[in-house]
Amino acid sequence: MKSKSVFVCTQCGVESPKWMGRCPSCGEWNSFVEERREGDKKRGSDWWAKHGVVESDVRPLREIEVGDARRIATGEEEWDTALGGGVVPGSVILLGGHPGIGKSTLCLQIARRWPEGKVLYVTGEESAFQVKMRAERLGFGHVDSIFISTSSNVGEILRMAHEMAPGLLIVDSVQTLKTPFLESAPGSVGQIRESTAELLRFAKQRHVPVILIGHITKEGLIAGPKVLEHMVDVVLQLEGDSHYSYRLLRVIKNRYGSTEALGIYRMGEGGMEPVANPSEFFMDMQGPTKSGSATGAMMEGFRPLLVEAQALVTPSIYGTPQRSATGFDMRRLAMLLAVVEKRLGLVIGRQDVFLHMVGGIRVQDPGMDMAVLAALLSSLEEWPIPAGYCFAGEVGLTGELRLVSHLHRRISEAAKLGFHTIFIPSLSTDKKILSPIEIVPIANVQQLYRHLQDLQG
Ligand code: TYD
Ligand code: MG
Repeated sequence: MKSKSVFVCTQCGVESPKWMGRCPSCGEWNSFVEERREGDKKRGSDWWAKHGVVESDVRPLREIEVGDARRIATGEEEWDTALGGGVVPGSVILLGGHPGIGKSTLCLQIARRWPEGKVLYVTGEESAFQVKMRAERLGFGHVDSIFISTSSNVGEILRMAHEMAPGLLIVDSVQTLKTPFLESAPGSVGQIRESTAELLRFAKQRHVPVILIGHITKEGLIAGPKVLEHMVDVVLQLEGDSHYSYRLLRVIKNRYGSTEALGIYRMGEGGMEPVANPSEFFMDMQGPTKSGSATGAMMEGFRPLLVEAQALVTPSIYGTPQRSATGFDMRRLAMLLAVVEKRLGLVIGRQDVFLHMVGGIRVQDPGMDMAVLAALLSSLEEWPIPAGYCFAGEVGLTGELRLVSHLHRRISEAAKLGFHTIFIPSLSTDKKILSPIEIVPIANVQQLYRHLQDLQG
């Protein structure tokens, strides 16, 4: 068979017969790579009769059992929570994350706890010896249910998997896979896509779950086309910061459940450890309170977290005032500063403003606004906020405070962590909130300002 060349966009997977400097589909520059393919024969309608589906799988809707979506709980609690109870048989899970974040460690722990049958762990990334060392370090180098292969050939992997009939197949990583049907190098778009398609077929036929590990590139995408994300059933992402030990297992896509679920781990001596009190990472628990610090009760998906915002507002010594934020959106900060100027009449335009979220978390929840605003005002006016107070609310452009989702969860998390008072937006309805701690409703930023002033006693 003659092989031909096609050019594939590494960002969106679009194909073209010739190279292009800019992808017409996603607009990315220099994203086309060449891929050699075995020439496809023309497939007429009788081709499918000869080669296609032998058994029909058409079934009446009413005969399909709900039991088909049974979940296998691993007992690895954070993982199970993120997946909405466990792994669905026959599902393909893509686990993405930056190198060194803990993907291999987490997968090995899942392998260790897997309750049904053997686990085939294919590692093209590391040697069998390295995997063994890690297992020893985690304290289970002796288990006999885990089998290691270092093959990177998908054909070989599938042959082994058919022979061994494992209860779980783990592939570390999808970037090392190679299918004999393509000439391009491992890690190329075509290789990743074709290999994944083969593994997908295996998972569906045998009802065996497959976990694929994928590295994330600088741009934050799993190297290779986005099409991979469309192919698999579940996309998980392990996030964290190399300077901090916590790891968030986020759900980007889940065909069987919510993407609001979240797992929280700590990378420690014993591998990826579950965390009893995740908020401890995001608050500075020791020492007296200084001005510029305020704690917000925010949500990460379904999980409430208390996060401390630290602000420093000082007169600028250079011509152009500096603005810097870590873990918080710069545009959102600019908006909050504009609200301070416009609604409170405070001059902040000629001040340097630095904002930092403790623990290196990246805040997305607008419910953190009120805490950030309180931290800014606290620094500007040199008003320390005494211990025991926290905030939950969104700030609108007119300076009004807006209600946020899951208020009850935020309040009970604050109570659990020993806060005695929470500032929340006033409710427009006369809905009563039952709360174990004191609630202070606030309508707008002017009221917030006065409350902060009153706290100075
Ligand atoms: P790893 O699982 O290899 O990351 P990935 O597969 O995502 O590249 O983990 C990488 C880091 O984790 C490595 O720097 C060592 C650290 N680590 C621990 O801190 N504790 C442990 O128990 C283990 C096994 C690893
Ligand atoms: Mg790894």
